[in-house]
Amino acid sequence: MEEIDLERASTVVETPEQRMMHLLEELVGYTIFHFHDEENMFIKHQLPAKRMTRHVRFHQALVEKVGDVLLTVDFTRMAVWDDLIAFLKDWLVLHIINVDQKDSALILQRQNKWKYIP
Ligand SMILES: [Fe+2]
Repeated sequence: MEEIDLERASTVVETPEQRMMHLLEELVGYTIFHFHDEENMFIKHQLPAKRMTRHVRFHQALVEKVGDVLLTVDFTRMAVWDDLIAFLKDWLVLHIINVDQKDSALILQRQNKWKYIP
């Protein structure tokens, strides 16, 4: 049975839009997994509640935004892909620089492993 499924899978040809959609689904799935991992770390290391709430809201906002895009956008238009990829790249990079690094620095400071300068 597995061999049959593998054989069928190897003959399926995806359109570029289908391939991009699958890659986007994988990216979203991994991002959600990563966000949960980060949020569990905040709980484990007792990030202050206000900071944790703010950080989790950033995560939720991105997931909701991408969910809305997946449901409403016409992915046959290449400009949509360019805009979405640019948005995700900017959001993730800025989030890592402005939010992830500051909260991880605070966790390290609370553990007396690093001097945090706000
Ligand atoms: Fe984060």
